[in-house]
Amino acid sequence: MKKFYVETWGCQMNELDSQRMTGLMMEQGILPTREVKEADLILLNSCSIREKAAQKAYSRLGEYRLLKKDNPELLIGFCGCVAQQEGEKALKRVPDLDFVMGPARVGELPTIVEQRRRFGKRVVATGFPEASQRQYDFDALAREGTFKGMVTIIEGCNKKCTFCIVPQTRGPEQSRPMDDILAEVQHLVSYGFREIELLGQTVNHWRDPQTDVDFAVLLDRVATMPGVERLRFVTSYPRDFTQDMVDQFGRHANICPYLHLPVQSGSNRILKLMGRGYDVELYYDLVERIRRVRPGIALSTDLIVGFPGETDEDFQATLKLVEDIRYGSFYAFKYSPRPGTAAPRLKVDAVAPEVADRRLQELFALQQSIQSEINRGLVGETFDTLVTNWGKRPGTQTGRTPCHRLIHFPYGDAPFELGSTTQVTVEEGLPHSLVGRPVAA
Ligand code: 5AD
Repeated sequence: MKKFYVETWGCQMNELDSQRMTGLMMEQGILPTREVKEADLILLNSCSIREKAAQKAYSRLGEYRLLKKDNPELLIGFCGCVAQQEGEKALKRVPDLDFVMGPARVGELPTIVEQRRRFGKRVVATGFPEASQRQYDFDALAREGTFKGMVTIIEGCNKKCTFCIVPQTRGPEQSRPMDDILAEVQHLVSYGFREIELLGQTVNHWRDPQTDVDFAVLLDRVATMPGVERLRFVTSYPRDFTQDMVDQFGRHANICPYLHLPVQSGSNRILKLMGRGYDVELYYDLVERIRRVRPGIALSTDLIVGFPGETDEDFQATLKLVEDIRYGSFYAFKYSPRPGTAAPRLKVDAVAPEVADRRLQELFALQQSIQSEINRGLVGETFDTLVTNWGKRPGTQTGRTPCHRLIHFPYGDAPFELGSTTQVTVEEGLPHSLVGRPVAA
């Protein structure tokens, strides 16, 4: 076996899992390829958050198995959240599938591949071993890019949101010990990573299993580590966001002025049906306290429209919230019923798909105009910009402002080193990006 190919769907956790799979295979002396036809091993890292993504997984497997005709050596591994849900069923449904591996079992990948290659065994590795039983080797992680290092701090989720499949696919919450986290951050910093992103489905619910200190303490510890230029974290759960955590934004300039804070709906009635455990008043209050310590922070959110029982009035409340909060960016989705979740069994009327579609479009249009306004309002401001890429047009590069906005700029006489930070003044605000000019050029 010489080359492997990884396809990734879904959230940052999946992205990181793919980076781990890549690192683990590379340790075996096998190289990644971007050409699926060259691969002797295909790993499909699937996402089950919405039905469409989950369906896509099986159709991809269908496409991949055809490649076995030309390459009888080819192994196909079904990984990620759909794999976790499907388990044995997947082996029956896809006769030449070679193995199934859930998200909590990524560390076992080399053994699973070996079992198939040497002994012909089609392993199904799903379920959730205790954290201490899991194999996690951050040194064997093929980080993508050289600026942002992602660090998992908490796995799984114990919340009971009625729409969400994550507790089933990623299992119960398990926090990683603080010492392990700090060691991984230190490792990344010493390799020159400028930006650290702490990851978890409910990242701010982290607690040190040994000392019980909370996420505010961890933020403080990571932010004060020499070499951590930018610190960000996803995803925060509104109800778990304490004042101590808010205060960290005031205390550490390297905690980026960007926060993803999913609200899901602007209607208290719907929030209740969703089982979110907070109301819009709590959310508004939290946003206000955050903005008090960090004016100009860019907020983003997730919203679901067409949740069962959502009336026009509920939807209007969501529009109002979006107008009031003025998010810098957002993700909005049409509700999708997921197996094993409580929402499909709620005794309320489903929302007609056309209605949900219309609401989604209306929400996008509103946000688009807000985003354009906000971005136009940034014209004239100068941001420390992390240069991350080459632009599409010759003579240009792109970067990220601390508030995580994409900014395009001409570099002038000589390009900036990728990974360096330079000041860029905004000259134009577009709905989804900024255009600027480096102060130095
Ligand atoms: N239908 C639609 N959107 C969903 N999300 C989670 N579950 C569903 C579902 N069943 C959205 C939520 C979550 C984001 C990651 O995906 O908004 O915050």
